[in-house]
Amino acid sequence: MGVIHPDITKAETLPSEFYTNEGNYLSLLQKFSSTWNFIGLESMLDQNNIVPVEIGNIPMLLTKSGTEYYCISNVCTHRGMLLCDDNKDSSSIRCPYHGRTFSLSGKIKHMPEFKGVENFPSPDDDLPAAKVINWHGLLFASLSTDDDFEQYIDAIDERMSFFDFSKLVRDNQLDRLHNLSANWLLYIDNYLEGFHIPYVHKALNSVIDYSKYQTELFDKSVLQIGEGQEGEVCFDIPLGHQDYGRNIAAYYWWIFPNLMLNFYPWGISINVVLPQDVGKTKIAYFGLVSDPSKVGIGAGGELDTVEHEDQWIVESCNRGMKSRLYKRGRYSPTMEKGVHHFHRLLTE
Ligand code: FES
Ligand SMILES: [Fe+2]
Repeated sequence: MGVIHPDITKAETLPSEFYTNEGNYLSLLQKFSSTWNFIGLESMLDQNNIVPVEIGNIPMLLTKSGTEYYCISNVCTHRGMLLCDDNKDSSSIRCPYHGRTFSLSGKIKHMPEFKGVENFPSPDDDLPAAKVINWHGLLFASLSTDDDFEQYIDAIDERMSFFDFSKLVRDNQLDRLHNLSANWLLYIDNYLEGFHIPYVHKALNSVIDYSKYQTELFDKSVLQIGEGQEGEVCFDIPLGHQDYGRNIAAYYWWIFPNLMLNFYPWGISINVVLPQDVGKTKIAYFGLVSDPSKVGIGAGGELDTVEHEDQWIVESCNRGMKSRLYKRGRYSPTMEKGVHHFHRLLTE
C-alpha cells in the first residue's frame, strides 16, 4: 500500500512532511515534467514574442516565430546562465553572459571565440524544447515523450462541449498575481473541496446551493459543480447534454498538477499555482470573458473576496503543518474525494 490508502474511508491524509520538507518538495516537482503544463495564453505573445515561463521549477521560454509557438529551456547551453528574465520582442535570443545566440526555436546560431572547438556546435548546444499545444488560445507544454494531450484534456473537452470558446476575449483587468507564504499543495488541497464554503466563504455560500455541491473524479482531473440558488445566474445548458436542466453556476476544473479552469456564465477564470520554494507559492490569475454583461455577478462574482479568504486559510495551514503536534488527518468521504484523489496522484 502506498502513502495514501485507495479507500477513502480507511485513508489518512498526506503527512505533514510533504508540505514542509525540502526534499519532498523537490521530488514532487519532478511530476511536472511527466505531464502537460499550462504555460500561458496566446494573447501574451501579442506584444512580445519571448516570455519567460516555468515547468515546475524548470525555467523555460515561451516564444512565437511566425505562427509557431515554442517552449524552450531558458538556460544557456554554455555555462548555464539564465537567458531571459523579462518579456522581450526580438528575432533571436542572446545570452547576456558571453553572447551565445539562439533562434526562437532554440537552435544555436552563433558563439563568439569558439573557433577550433571540436564537434561544435552539436545538437547538445541547442536549447532543449518541450512540445507545445494551443487549445482554444490556452498554451500547454510537455517535456515528456509519451504524454497524450487528448487524454489530458478529454474530460474537459467533453463536458464543456456546449461552451463557446470562440467568443473568449482576454480581459487584463481580471489578471492577478498573488504571492503566498505557503506550500503549493495547500492551495490545491483547499481548492479541491467545497467543504469549507459555508465556514470560510459566507458571501459565496449565499449564491450557491451547498446541498447540491458535487465532486467528480477523472483520471488526471477533478470537477466540482456549484449549483446556483434559485434565480442566480446560471449556464444555459442545451438539451441532450448530461447536465441539461440543472442550475449550474460554476464548473470548477482542476487538472493535475497545478491548473484550475473555473467556468462561469461570463467566461473562464484561470488560476495557475506556481511553486517557488517549499513555503512560497505564486498564484497567477487570468480572465477570459465571453459575456461581459455577467462579469461580477453570481458564483463567479466576488472572486477577490473568495481569494482573500482562501489565502488566509492556506497560509494558516502552512503554519499548522510545521507543528510537531500535527502529523496527518482523515478525509470526509462525502466532501473530500477531490483532495484524496490529488494526494493519490501525487504519491502513486
Ligand atoms: S553562459 Fe551563455 S554564453 Fe556563456
Ligand atoms: Fe475556498
